[in-house]
Amino acid sequence: MASGGFFAIGFRSIQIIQVRLRKPDYKPPFRKAKKIPREDAGYRVTDGNIAAIDFGTTSVSLAYTTKGDKKVSTLILDHEDKSTRVPNAFLLKKEDDGKMKVEDFGSIARKKFTSMKPGDHHTHVYFERIKMLMRREKVVDRDTVVESFSGEKFYLVEVIAFILQHLKDLLMDHFSRTAWPLKTTDFDWVITVPAIWDARGKRMMREAAYLAGLLTEYGGISRFTPVSHLSLPLPDEYNPDRLSLALEPESAALYSQEVVADQIESDPDTAIIQRPSDYMVIDAGGGTIDITAHIEVDGSIVVENIPTGNAWGGTQVNEAFSKILEGIVNDPGFEKFLASGDQSQTNADIIKIFYTEFETGKLLFGKEQTKEICISFPNRFAKFYNKALEAGVKRKSGIDYEDDVLYISKEVVESELFGPALKGMIECTLQAIEDNDTDLSTFYLVGGFGGCSYVHKKVKAAIEESFHGQGRSCHVIVPPTPQLAVATGAVMWRKNPEKIKARRSDATYGIGISIPFEDDKHDEYYKFYNEEQKEYKCSDIFDVFLEKGELIEADQVITTSLTPLRQSDEQATIGIYSTPNLGVQYIKDKDGESTVTKIGQIVIDIPNPDNLPREKRLIDVTMDFSGTEIQAKAKYHITGEEVKTVCDFLSAQ
Ligand SMILES: Nc1ncnc2c1ncn2[C@@H]1O[C@H](COP(=O)(O)OP(=O)(O)OP(=O)(O)O)[C@@H](O)[C@H]1O
Ligand SMILES: [Mg+2]
Repeated sequence: MASGGFFAIGFRSIQIIQVRLRKPDYKPPFRKAKKIPREDAGYRVTDGNIAAIDFGTTSVSLAYTTKGDKKVSTLILDHEDKSTRVPNAFLLKKEDDGKMKVEDFGSIARKKFTSMKPGDHHTHVYFERIKMLMRREKVVDRDTVVESFSGEKFYLVEVIAFILQHLKDLLMDHFSRTAWPLKTTDFDWVITVPAIWDARGKRMMREAAYLAGLLTEYGGISRFTPVSHLSLPLPDEYNPDRLSLALEPESAALYSQEVVADQIESDPDTAIIQRPSDYMVIDAGGGTIDITAHIEVDGSIVVENIPTGNAWGGTQVNEAFSKILEGIVNDPGFEKFLASGDQSQTNADIIKIFYTEFETGKLLFGKEQTKEICISFPNRFAKFYNKALEAGVKRKSGIDYEDDVLYISKEVVESELFGPALKGMIECTLQAIEDNDTDLSTFYLVGGFGGCSYVHKKVKAAIEESFHGQGRSCHVIVPPTPQLAVATGAVMWRKNPEKIKARRSDATYGIGISIPFEDDKHDEYYKFYNEEQKEYKCSDIFDVFLEKGELIEADQVITTSLTPLRQSDEQATIGIYSTPNLGVQYIKDKDGESTVTKIGQIVIDIPNPDNLPREKRLIDVTMDFSGTEIQAKAKYHITGEEVKTVCDFLSAQ
């Protein structure tokens, strides 16, 4: 389908490489792998039972559909308030035999933890918002450790596994009561991940799903591995093709487009837009702003932009409040208070203030149901800081304190609490619009933060202003139930993943190789003499599979052929690297520092019983970037067999 640097979708043609991403000093790679048609199917064909977990920073939801059912449902996770999206908060209980059990989750878990008797703390483990640890810029691996609110340390991947397992159990419990009892293995599972995450974060979610037993009929994780200097083993990979990772903004985009199209269809006369072919989706959640732009032609979609976003989600509003309060009581990080009693107990008070009291006020303000925010402090906190609070509010205009209640005026809420998060979100959105090559004028705003009326009003005004400046008009729409867009959209995506025809690469990917040295091309620094081959070679060449911004088609894979470095080699280890930059020609600079990040490696056995010459011992390395995860495999020509490939992105490197 691709020719002359363009990709055709229906009657549209889209430029394959965003040439303008290249800086003036851009240097093309010395070697680039070939694109070839894919031979195997990209995704397992599902028989129709699909369950998707949106494991958000602040909240979780689970959407599902069953065979023959056209509609996607969301599971009620909190039976008290019939809520389908609940806080990502978990309370686990230690059993006598060392096993752990999820006692509660969501608001109930938080309520129980914050009002727990001090004597019960040592038998419980509480976690909230652990996804914050997995931001793109943070390096996570299988051995990443997370601290519970009582200060105990656990492996992050196992904590996520407990949470996923609990959600799975709730779905199974739901089906056990229906006339069609379905098992875990009757489902194709989907977990959503921010598009801006790198390969490691995605791999972590996949491994957590294996540990959770999402893909088997046996139970999953039941105890934590004690944290030690030993690495966690690679989990067994049962039915890997029954799990796929969906990109959050992409799922939200599919949902928004379908739901809004249904609305337009049901009442075309009053609709303000027609079904758009080009649209941008801004998913503003608790921890991330995730932006994507789609082009839809005849039901097929090309994801037009490189995944973009930042960490200016709704939690930043809580963070901003924390900074103000720390200033008022003159105690950075509330360290004095936290040290004043049992860690679980003081932490529980802090959670109550920020995630219950302040959060309630913030939501009301966001819905424009109140003009100021008031927060009642827990008794212990008010008593501890009593004098400091009274003195502190005198120094800060727009904030009052009376009878254990803090009152924050509208001006402070707007400028100091919501202001910075909105600024971060708007700047990122306007940049994404500027970077976009198409003429889109429809914006869908989703996620809990994006969907609230105050944020919608502000973001809409900012986008409109930028459009009006260019004499253009636009529509910024919040679809119904914007907080469920990701989970529901993920099920829609899994029904037909082939709908996405192409995506743009978020980084440059490749492997490190040595090639014959060419005086006019290569730098002397990398020159070395290979005794066995009797020739000069150039080391550390970045053999590029895919450049940042390049369009990857769903029906293509990328491949290159290598030969062993030495004739005696019986195993080859090929490192896979990525960089957010373009024009990187070597994997090391002249100081020996890496110019790229290692994201994985392929280990291939290459026996040579007949002692064939080195040039005949070809190894094909094939990588598939078209899906939501990077897959790598290797084939050894001599045996003709596909050699087992370990592509392990999570081991500490
Ligand atoms: N009415 C409202 N006013 C203001 N903020 C709101 C409102 N409703 C939800 N939020 C905020 O939205 C965020 C939660 O949104 P959402 O559930 O989409 O996030 P998430 O999916 O958990 O996070 P992420 O996608 O970043 O991992 C929270 O920070 C919450 O305070
Ligand atoms: Mg989200």
